[in-house]
Amino acid sequence: MRAAACVKPRQSEREKLSESLWVAKRGPPPYHADEIMTFTIKQSESVFHGQDRRHELGQFLTPNPVADFMASLFESRWQEWNLLDAGAGSGALSAMLVRRLCASRHKPKGILITACELDDALIKPLHTTLHDCERECERAGIRFSATVLNQDFIAVAVPMARGDLFASHQPRFNAAIVNPPYRKIRSDSSTRLLLRSAGIETSNLYTGFVALIAKLLAERGELVAITPRSFCNGPYFKPFRMDFLGMMSLRRLHVFESRSAPFSRDEVLQENIILRAVKDSAKPESVMISSSSGAPGGAITEREMAYSEVVSPDDIEQFIHLVENEAQDSARAVMSRLPMSLSDSGLSVSTGRVVGFRAKEFLRQHPERDTAPLIYPCHFNGGFVHWPKEEARKPNAIVSNEQTRELLVPAGVYVLVKRFTAKEERKRIVACLYDSHQIPAPLIGFENHLNYFHLNGHGLSRNLAKGLAAFLNSTVVDMYFRQFNGHTQVNATDLRSLNYPSKADLEKLGRRISDPGLPQAQLDALVEEELF
Ligand SMILES: C[S@@+](CC[C@H](N)C(=O)[O-])C[C@H]1O[C@@H](n2cnc3c(N)ncnc32)[C@H](O)[C@@H]1O
Repeated sequence: MRAAACVKPRQSEREKLSESLWVAKRGPPPYHADEIMTFTIKQSESVFHGQDRRHELGQFLTPNPVADFMASLFESRWQEWNLLDAGAGSGALSAMLVRRLCASRHKPKGILITACELDDALIKPLHTTLHDCERECERAGIRFSATVLNQDFIAVAVPMARGDLFASHQPRFNAAIVNPPYRKIRSDSSTRLLLRSAGIETSNLYTGFVALIAKLLAERGELVAITPRSFCNGPYFKPFRMDFLGMMSLRRLHVFESRSAPFSRDEVLQENIILRAVKDSAKPESVMISSSSGAPGGAITEREMAYSEVVSPDDIEQFIHLVENEAQDSARAVMSRLPMSLSDSGLSVSTGRVVGFRAKEFLRQHPERDTAPLIYPCHFNGGFVHWPKEEARKPNAIVSNEQTRELLVPAGVYVLVKRFTAKEERKRIVACLYDSHQIPAPLIGFENHLNYFHLNGHGLSRNLAKGLAAFLNSTVVDMYFRQFNGHTQVNATDLRSLNYPSKADLEKLGRRISDPGLPQAQLDALVEEELF
């Protein structure tokens, strides 16, 4: 065997075309067959740069047990695999899939891998891994070839997804395995514009990768991806969800119970999800939902969920819900029986209008004669706002004048919900009451890190507000909320998507509650008695 053959395959027409479109920056390094004797997946840390560069490249390599689990999820029985590995790193994902295919009872005839990796420093380990793959395939009697592209995946894949050149001969992958880089992309960046030119509107590189991959897959092509869970809800990812769920049908979703476990080496604190999806606009009856702790060898629990419960056809936001166990299923059932949407109830939820850095000149550390109270999350104190907080690092007041008038709301009783909860906080939704009876002031400023519930821009009755805050603070709401929100951000859209009890029921609950920050067990008991 010539070692270099694994990275410089004999060129078929497709490969020539692929190469003419995706000209790799560098050729294969000179290998000697005896250099690579074992099938070791090189996740060598030594090739990496400093922390900053790794973060810039979204370089969190998949641990081998997780990569192997991902590889195990493929169900296709292709005779000829045409696999895309975008953001390939040192090739762990491809290698695990090749290893499984080689050991399979349904061995394919051929495997063709296109691995795209931007970072020069990972190209050598990537070639090495692919070389190992070739040896493994040779032993299993499977034809193997690979193309390594040392390029920006977005730049090379967008023209293909757009069908710019040679549209009729575009390479179509029938499988893709990916752990895409996670990084925000600015709205004026060239990456964002490129993606937009392919009809992809997204603010994060990982969803850009996944959307492009979906477009490059052939009909019935299969994708297995590990990504942050943030795309499952929230307004920023709505265009991605619409596009992706339109093209692909979800077949399996796996959640890690711990945020950090699957990537413990790299201190990743995103909640991660593994998804298997097939390029098929027809949806299956059900989706398999599984979960595990994320620690190697940890037990996996599995349950089937109706597709329409994972993504409701009536949901204009197309949130993706993951019900992992019986308790969560009961919470879902209870919430689905609640009678009202927020808009039916006449209530609204908005994000606080005061953005600190924009209103800087009007902010005051302490209340003065011409100021209004300015409320930040640091003013939350159990079930009520505690204001002013002299020792707080945040300003306590905002000047009240013509220029700030539109940032302020009239006196009243409002339910406030933190937009960001610390990961160590027990609950995602943390609600409390702002009550003008306790803080007399004609106008109030709610800072942008808060959501506030109101009635046409005005406050609520005290009992309605207490009932609503208690409902939002209940365990059942938290349990349901976590099914579609896998991160620590609570958007107004998320709160709008919930079902709510009737106003009368909330008021009845409010009458029984002195403090919506009651100990959890007491609060849950009252909520259950009155609402469920
Ligand atoms: C999360 S890591 C995953 C690496 C590997 N697939 C794995 O699972 O171990 C993402 C990889 O994408 C690479 N990358 C980042 N931006 C890229 C881009 N625009 N085009 C291609 N690769 C990129 C990074 O260098 C990194 O190796």
